[in-house]
Amino acid sequence: METILTSTTCQLTAFHSPSSSSSSSSSLPLKFSSSIAPTLRDTRKKAVAASPVRRRPANPAVPLRVRANSQAAPASAEAAKAAGVPGEMKAWVYGEYGGVDVLKFDPKVSVPEVKEDQVLIKVAAAALNPVDAKRRQGKFKATDSPLPTVPGYDIAGVVVKVGSQVKELKEGDEVYGDINEKALEGPKQFGSLAEYTAVEEKLLALKPKNINFVQAAGLPLAISTAYEGLERTGFSAGKSILVLGGSGGVGSLVIQLAKHVFGASRVAATSSTGKLEFLKSLGADLAIDYTKENFEDLPEKFDVVYDAVGQCDRAVKAIKEGGIVVALTGAVVPPGFRFVVTSKGEVLKKLNPYIESGKVKPIVDPKGPFPFSQVAEAFSYIETNRASGKVVIHPIP
Ligand SMILES: NC(=O)c1ccc[n+]([C@@H]2O[C@H](COP(=O)([O-])OP(=O)(O)OC[C@H]3O[C@@H](n4cnc5c(N)ncnc54)[C@H](OP(=O)(O)O)[C@@H]3O)[C@@H](O)[C@H]2O)c1
Repeated sequence: METILTSTTCQLTAFHSPSSSSSSSSSLPLKFSSSIAPTLRDTRKKAVAASPVRRRPANPAVPLRVRANSQAAPASAEAAKAAGVPGEMKAWVYGEYGGVDVLKFDPKVSVPEVKEDQVLIKVAAAALNPVDAKRRQGKFKATDSPLPTVPGYDIAGVVVKVGSQVKELKEGDEVYGDINEKALEGPKQFGSLAEYTAVEEKLLALKPKNINFVQAAGLPLAISTAYEGLERTGFSAGKSILVLGGSGGVGSLVIQLAKHVFGASRVAATSSTGKLEFLKSLGADLAIDYTKENFEDLPEKFDVVYDAVGQCDRAVKAIKEGGIVVALTGAVVPPGFRFVVTSKGEVLKKLNPYIESGKVKPIVDPKGPFPFSQVAEAFSYIETNRASGKVVIHPIP
């Protein structure tokens, strides 16, 4: 069963999705090639390869090759071969900052090496977040990892290889997570929009058994943000909250967590006219149409405003005395504050029971899932700022 938003009703509905409903790894089209990426054979070359990737060629017609980490040792290449992991993979890559057109499909990107605390994941589904678009546009270039970049934070997939210090996960485990511990501080060059990605074990959790890979891929960054923001406000049972941007990837989870996990006394949320019923289906007691009403002019005030839109200046007018505003984006006005999400497998593990009980539902935007060949279209769509729930990429490939 897949919970999804239908484009016509904008409500939570359920339907069977034969192509993606199985959570069994045996349903995954795991296609391994027997080839192994060439390893750097002399130490001089290794020293030169200080960056784990080769720089983008000056001529954009020359195919971009993203190289695996230079810590690569022949022993690990042998282990990868034994595990049936190919040396190269299909991935989306950009070698310069810019619009959607900088994204290029590359069929021969090196499969990343696994560090001792990491696992290698065969990616079954990936999700986009606004940070993927902002990062590609160069908005975080001061703290970004070097180009070229395989973008993507969110994954759901199957562990195919484990590093020497990995304690709990094993090959065959179905996992999900946000692969970048700090969203803006050196996010990985080998992201989730690829056949394989290497991730620290501590950033992952086992995929809830009742949801499929498509649904799971949409959760990690958004639910972690929703949860961390609520925690940082000290949100607790009996408090009221207004969620600005309630229909988006984060907002749709803030509503659900506030209501069904934290025990909010009252949840209000904003969206455009066509999504008001959707907000109510998530647990909102009051759905405010931002095209018709200014939320800050309403007589009702809230203990917390969770701002996922960038309206902190208005949000501070909607809190009770002693209330607080948590903002994800835009300028901050006291007593508002902003934070940047930290990815933690522990948070996903803590929330898994709520997902497995059906109290918290993954929301996949009805325009998706987008096939791997349409990653550029998926980016264009999330950049309209009109997505409902999560924009997911599946199958890969
Ligand atoms: N600081 C952090 O750690 C962090 C983490 C995650 C996200 N973020 C940021 O938080 C923001 C939201 O992320 P997201 O993933 O939820 O984005 P998203 O899914 O792309 O948000 C799209 C949603 O925003 C709604 N929206 C747009 N303008 C609105 C308005 N004026 N009032 C109410 N709703 C409005 C749209 O609803 P309508 O179609 O009804 O307008 C749409 O459903 C982004 O800027 C993102 O970069 C920050």
